Order: sequence, then structure tokens, then C-alpha cells
Amino acid sequence: MAPEPAIARQRGSIACVGLGMTLGSHLGPLARSHIEQADVVFAALSDGIVEMWLEGMHPDVRSLQPYYGQGDKSRLLTYREWVEVMMAEVRAGRKVCAVFYGHPGIFAWSPHEVIKVARAEGYRAHMEPGISAEDCLYADLGIDPGRYGCQHYEASQLLFCETPLNPGAYLVLWQVGLVGDRSLKRFSTGPEYRQVLVDVLEKDYPLDHEVIIYRGATLPIQRPRVRRVALRDLPATDVSAEETVILPPASALRPSRVVRERLAVLDRAREAPGQTS
Ligand SMILES: C[S@@+](CC[C@H](N)C(=O)[O-])C[C@H]1O[C@@H](n2cnc3c(N)ncnc32)[C@H](O)[C@@H]1O
Repeated sequence: MAPEPAIARQRGSIACVGLGMTLGSHLGPLARSHIEQADVVFAALSDGIVEMWLEGMHPDVRSLQPYYGQGDKSRLLTYREWVEVMMAEVRAGRKVCAVFYGHPGIFAWSPHEVIKVARAEGYRAHMEPGISAEDCLYADLGIDPGRYGCQHYEASQLLFCETPLNPGAYLVLWQVGLVGDRSLKRFSTGPEYRQVLVDVLEKDYPLDHEVIIYRGATLPIQRPRVRRVALRDLPATDVSAEETVILPPASALRPSRVVRERLAVLDRAREAPGQTS
């Protein structure tokens, strides 16, 4: 990504901020101040209630949701249109804030793109992080990504591209609800598509391996939803657009004896300088 120019040449600006996952409780003070100080606010949020809450913070909040088409419109076209409507205001010299649910830079194309375009044209552009679904699942499921390692993929990537997996680490799969959609026009796929995903995963995971289907709370009155099924049952289990799928490690960490021995030699050399062999 192009770095932010030291001195912006143009008057307009854009800040892409994250609202977090749960209404009210995840918004950070810097994101709030970007929203309150903007001339215009664009919103791509998880539901209408969250949008209404944002409207209470600024008199000119414009929803990006209507740009989604029904049936025959590619999401890529929608996301390009988002970039264009936001840039039109930036080019008009206005201070723009674009608010996305979760973290604006996680599994989201247009925030990165609009920042890239704005900087290339000499405008000030900034991304303010937010609490993502990833952060919530670590808390709600008691997972520490540093314990065994953690890999994240858009689920379709495993179908479209040869993707080596490490079954000794956690595997987090995003957008399983529409896995295998090559058209970028559908909002969900079905059991046959999840079966293809299971067939790919079966190369690295046993069919009785636990799969966690997780939905973090988006409203303060909700509890996280956590369902656990065997991998073989994933096709028959509905997965919504707001759910993330996690596979715990399927194999133990394997000690690397050669490297450990090499480190032991170094440690001995530190303890007894001059006796390295
Ligand atoms: C386009 S990505 C957006 C992610 C968002 N930028 C973030 O920071 O979490 C959409 C995916 O996020 C995950 N997701 C969205 N809402 C969720 C929720 N309430 N709980 C768990 N995962 C969620 C799902 O994997 C979904 O397919």
C-alpha cells in the first residue's frame, strides 16, 4: 500500500473506521471522533439497528447497503461503486468518514482500495482499526492464536486455489455461508458447496474432527452463538453470512530436533565461551 504522503496536496480526506462488532460497546474514541468531525459519513454496517444508532451521531449518514443488487449484480461492482461515491466527496474537498462493522481492513476490499486511491491522488487517508469478528472469537471461544498458530482464509480460496494447510494450527474460515460462489453475485450457497469444502478439508482433517460455527453478538442483548459439529456434518448444517467456522488443531506440534540441537550448541557456547564443538 502507498504510504500516506507527508503533506497531503489536496483538501479532501478520508478516514475508514471500524465500529466493532457489538453495537455501542466496541467503538473506540478515535473512531468516534472521526465520525463526529466528518462532513459526510458513509456506512457499511451489519444491520439496520446499528445504522440507526450511527445516525444519532451525525446528521449526514449515507448507507452503502442500497448499492448491493438483487440477483445479478457482482459484489465487486458494488464495492467499486462504494469507492467511487466516497471518492466523489473527497474530491469535492470534504472530510469523509467511512464506517464499517468490525475492523475496516479485515476481509474487506473497498476500505483498502479507497485509501489507496485517495493517497495516489494526494488526499489524506487513514484507517482506524476496530474490533473484528476475529477478536471476538478469541475471547468467546477461549482461543489464543499464539498457542499453536492460527491460519485465516476466505473459505472459497481453499476451493479456487491450491492452499497448503497446517492442521497443527487453528484454521479460521471466513464467508463459509457463500463458499464456492464464483459469480460474486450470490449471498449464500448450499450443502453441495459445503460438501466440496469438506472434501478439500478431508485431505488434512479426519471427518469426525470438531468444527465450530461461531456468531459473535452484534447487539448488546445477544449472546454469542457457538455450534459444534463433526466435519462430516458441515454440509447438512446451515451456515449464515454472519458466521465464521473454526477448526481446532488436528495434530500435535512436532519438535524440530535438528534446530533444537543447533540452539543447544549456541547455548552451550554462551555458557562456556571458547568451547563450541
Ligand atoms: C466481509 S467479512 C467482514 C469482516 C469484518 N470486517 C470484521 O472485521 O470482522 C464477513 C465475514 O465476517 C464474519 N462475520 C461477520 N459477522 C460475524 C459475526 N457476528 N460473528 C462471527 N463472524 C462474523 C463471517 O465470516 C462473514 O462471512
